[in-house]
Amino acid sequence: MKSFVISICCLTVCIAPQAYAHEGHDHDSQPPTPPWQDASGWPDRIVTTIPETPQSSFAVTWRTDDEVTSSIAQIVEATDAARFDVGAEIVLGETESLNLVDVPIAKEIWKAEWNDGLAPVNYHSVVFRGLEPDTTYAYRVRGSEGNWSEWFQIQTAPEDGPVKFIYVGDAQNGVLSHWSRLIRAAYAAAPDSRFILHAGDLVNNGARDIEWASWFKAVGFIHGMIPAIPVAGNHEYRRYTRNGEESDSLLSMMWRPQFTLPEEPELPDDLQEAAYDIRYSDDIHIFILSTQNQNLQAQADWLDRELGRSDAKWKIVSMHHPIFSSGSDRDSPDRRKILLPVFEKHAVDLVLQGHDHTYARGMIGQTPERISYSDAGGDIETMFVNSVSGPKQYDFKENGWDDYADTGVQLQRKAENTQFFQIITIEDDTLTYEARTALNNLYDDFVMTKDESGHKTITRGAQSTMDERMFETSEPYIREGID
Ligand SMILES: [Fe+2]
Repeated sequence: MKSFVISICCLTVCIAPQAYAHEGHDHDSQPPTPPWQDASGWPDRIVTTIPETPQSSFAVTWRTDDEVTSSIAQIVEATDAARFDVGAEIVLGETESLNLVDVPIAKEIWKAEWNDGLAPVNYHSVVFRGLEPDTTYAYRVRGSEGNWSEWFQIQTAPEDGPVKFIYVGDAQNGVLSHWSRLIRAAYAAAPDSRFILHAGDLVNNGARDIEWASWFKAVGFIHGMIPAIPVAGNHEYRRYTRNGEESDSLLSMMWRPQFTLPEEPELPDDLQEAAYDIRYSDDIHIFILSTQNQNLQAQADWLDRELGRSDAKWKIVSMHHPIFSSGSDRDSPDRRKILLPVFEKHAVDLVLQGHDHTYARGMIGQTPERISYSDAGGDIETMFVNSVSGPKQYDFKENGWDDYADTGVQLQRKAENTQFFQIITIEDDTLTYEARTALNNLYDDFVMTKDESGHKTITRGAQSTMDERMFETSEPYIREGID
């Protein structure tokens, strides 16, 4: 009913015809928008997420122009019948109108000038509830009357049993031109993934509409079928302008309308839908941090409490800035100081990160000696990964992770000049990890096993036979042409 009320109000406000970028192009600085960027009466930018219990619910969010003021979806349990859709149930959701240029911050209007000339749009979201676990549903969403999306199939989470998922680092640059092949290769390699985790910097300017248009075009139908678990990176935070002044660095005004994510009442307002957890199944608990947000201590305290309360067998943290940097001269000592003790206290199994535009995997463990890349048999506390899925690539830190030797971390595999996706499979007491290239070649892998007491070992070292890929040992790299 809420969406019905909104639709009546919006109709009166939005009725005046206005010329926007697609018709006008009076701004010399503003190139014409491609047709796939423009909002219309048809639903687009369709993305599923998991804001509530994954066994019995999921959300879908989509975009239209601002004339579509109600949020209507349909859902039915999928069957082999050609007309599986007979008897589909209508579900109403919420509509949120978004001005892409004028951004209200603390009762003042600030400018997102890179969207100049773009019309306001509406974002719509529906949460489907009361579903059965581990069941395939078909749903579709509506724009203007009669303008339905295609039917998408999606599976709810299982109570327990094996779960496969994809994790990718920064897409960020050349998102449509160069990242699209990587995310599509990931989907082709693991179409049975239950979710895809994006570890921040999904785009370069998280408040610039054309970049999200590119991201959604690159992803295509994938997130209509497989929920996204997005992490906010530094590039999802922006400063807006007003009278020559700049605002604080804030989570993009597009983030919350476009992803329907869990809210955490224990966290401050500016961390809502940016720091959250998802108990995906009996075995798996995922914790997402927003490391660009200034209030890292509040997140560390929340994480400490949540990890302490969780009885999941496998605990995975994802955040954008790495605990152990791998990109050229980068480091985050303050973040490491606050977060690493929490990870160690709760023996977090896996930390999935981005930001450094290189590949790095290493562990803190209690191995008597440094174990080599392909060795097995080490005791492990936590495995750390930095990965990159987009084409922007940095030099690896000159002395590897030697600066972090006092923490006991051991770097086990690294790369430059390579886009990666990771496939992670968890089945009972075993976690299998694979890092793969755009051609689906296996670059890095390991198997971690946990016994009844929680003691973990690496039971299989890496099987990849690919040579280490560094700038000097791989194809030429050109930075230009991927912005
Ligand atoms: Fe970043």
